[in-house]
Amino acid sequence: MPARWKNDLNWSDVTPKAVYLSRRQWMAGAGALAAGAFAGPGMAGITTVPSRYSTDEAPNALEEITGYNNFYEFGTGKEDPADNAHRLTTDPWSVTIDGLVDKPGSYDLADILAGLTLEERIYRLRCVEAWSMVVPWVGFELATLLDRVGVQPSARYVYFETLVRPEEMPGQRYPILDWPYREGLRLDEAMHPLTLLATGLYGEEMPNQNGAPIRLVVPWKYGFKSIKSIVRISLVEDQPEATWNMQNPREYGFYSNVNPEVDHPRWSQASERKIGGGLFARRVPTQMFNGYGDEVAGLYAGMDLAKFY
Ligand code: MTE
Repeated sequence: MPARWKNDLNWSDVTPKAVYLSRRQWMAGAGALAAGAFAGPGMAGITTVPSRYSTDEAPNALEEITGYNNFYEFGTGKEDPADNAHRLTTDPWSVTIDGLVDKPGSYDLADILAGLTLEERIYRLRCVEAWSMVVPWVGFELATLLDRVGVQPSARYVYFETLVRPEEMPGQRYPILDWPYREGLRLDEAMHPLTLLATGLYGEEMPNQNGAPIRLVVPWKYGFKSIKSIVRISLVEDQPEATWNMQNPREYGFYSNVNPEVDHPRWSQASERKIGGGLFARRVPTQMFNGYGDEVAGLYAGMDLAKFY
């Protein structure tokens, strides 16, 4: 990285003008660079570059992905985010990156994106949500951003926080959760190439109800780890607070890896029903680490996953 990066680094400072693209332009750029068209429901005319981690499962329809959400800042009903999230102002947006990093600061999202190469920006893979959807995400690896800001050797965890703005997030006017929504990953989980910061889906900017303008996607963990509308990323030494773990530690552990062998105290987690399969869709057996065992099982070698759930 250029040595002249400073605390109040402006990412576009270190990006040649020719490669500077606005958020909207780089979405179009993703299409231009496409390796192949991909046909699916609602996909007319949209092309995406498949990543090496892409699933070949058919993606869910855009209406399913944007019409059935969990985003308590906009209400606790699955349709509340679609009804209310249009109120959220997502541009301009800045993310504070602090704690044990070489270049802490408040970074404008447009500058963060402008500082990425096209190869770093494009991604498409299978998504895990609590209710199981396949989402063609657009985004980049969290590791790319962490490498840019320089993680210090004493950092062991990454902590994330969602925006607090009750004027635009009506759910935050009530103590449903202890706001802000927060999450955490162990550093090696955060650095894994499957861990994404997603800024869009289906080749478009992120719909507000899915966590615009930037949200986490951790495909081998239960959906609640994938924190939306992120405004802070802190590198820390100790295991950070995480919303559902704080709310009910017996039911929700810090790790929350998809694991059919460890039941939630109130329900089995051995099978799942795919959204969009219709009311009578057959339940399918849930796979360990949501099918990403080959990639991520090594992160937990020697750990008792019934204890560290
Ligand atoms: N992030 C914030 N800030 N607030 C939330 O309520 N819900 C989580 C997660 N991220 C949530 C959040 C839960 S419980 C799930 S299952 C996923 O977002 C849902 O993501 P989706 O709506 O894109 O499917």
